[in-house]
Amino acid sequence: MAERDGDGASGAGAADVLTVRGLKKHFPIKRGILKHTVGWIRAVDDVSFQVRRGETLGLVGESGSGKTTVLRLLVRAVEPTGGHVVFRPHDGPPIDVVAADREALKAVRRRIRVVFQDPESSLNPRMTVRRVIGEPLMVNDGMKGDRLDDAVKRLMRMVGLKPEQRSRYPYAFSGGQRQRIGVARALALDPQLLLADEPTSALDVSVQAQILNLLLDLQRDLHLTVLFVTHDLSVIRHMTDRVAVMYLGNFVEVGERRDIFRRPKHPYTEALFSGIPQPNPHRPLKRIILEGDIPDVAKVPAGCPFHTRCPYRQPVCEEEPPPLAPAGGDGHGSAGHLAACHFADELRLKGEDDLLGSA
Ligand SMILES: Nc1ncnc2c1ncn2[C@@H]1O[C@H](COP(=O)(O)OP(=O)(O)O)[C@@H](O)[C@H]1O
Ligand SMILES: [Mg+2]
Repeated sequence: MAERDGDGASGAGAADVLTVRGLKKHFPIKRGILKHTVGWIRAVDDVSFQVRRGETLGLVGESGSGKTTVLRLLVRAVEPTGGHVVFRPHDGPPIDVVAADREALKAVRRRIRVVFQDPESSLNPRMTVRRVIGEPLMVNDGMKGDRLDDAVKRLMRMVGLKPEQRSRYPYAFSGGQRQRIGVARALALDPQLLLADEPTSALDVSVQAQILNLLLDLQRDLHLTVLFVTHDLSVIRHMTDRVAVMYLGNFVEVGERRDIFRRPKHPYTEALFSGIPQPNPHRPLKRIILEGDIPDVAKVPAGCPFHTRCPYRQPVCEEEPPPLAPAGGDGHGSAGHLAACHFADELRLKGEDDLLGSA
């Protein structure tokens, strides 16, 4: 897999497609026949970020860190507990997603489309591929007949499927082809922002690269902006311009992909790198073993949420939550490199190269 050129959409002043401020989702934990709320799962806990037009922003974190919930909040598939989300379509005024009424929400949902993790369960097995891909056009635009058929054929070609196969059902396709169907469906309404939720993690390793390369090609050709969720750092390296690292409902580090890989500023990011599959067995990975399991999201530790597993923790980390603040001040990073660590400027953390043993 070729690495993508990182200079793409990071230029200063590029307008943001999406601006997120203080976004929160707390799910109640209910017990007993009276369904009393006995606690809260802080799935997303005060998250702020922006997505720049034309970029691919990678969102990485362990399972359960809140990545899918962030995506669902952006299209209000779940109602936020708090916060603001502003979407700026290129063909209209900005939309306040959290306050949007039905009409405005409809406009948001046709411009922001999701590619799901598991094509197995996200495609209706009783619909032909023609129906699966054409449905958004039927429902939103009332398209039918030959026009619909032509549109479906065009979409199938775009994602590398044979239009002659449009009367087949999803089960007749391989996993990789099914994900191509999912991508075609997501593209049907000509979206501006694609939310890709671990789109290759349910696929065989051999076809993962094909789907990733398809997404890269489509992004370039259609000028899409992409928010790409994964727990796989090698996918992040291949696909993204910028990276946000999520831990227990919080963003702990955000920056240009280059900076994050060379010079991480949060101990959790450093630890994540030690989990990258090693490309060369003769250069063994110096693995950082994290102490303990990821804490329960219903009991996020006080202070820094990562302190229970952090090899560099100090007393202050148990007391005060560190804000996500600029951390590129050592001359190595670029502007816009943020980390939520009290010691971001003091620690000299290892990047991917160090951990692979080449530095
Ligand atoms: N509808 C829901 N009700 C209750 N808890 C939920 C719901 N959706 C997600 N969660 C919880 O929120 C946390 C974050 O989940 P999720 O966003 O799916 O994480 P990720 O995508 O990073 O694996 C998990 O602990 C999950 O169990
Ligand atoms: Mg998920």
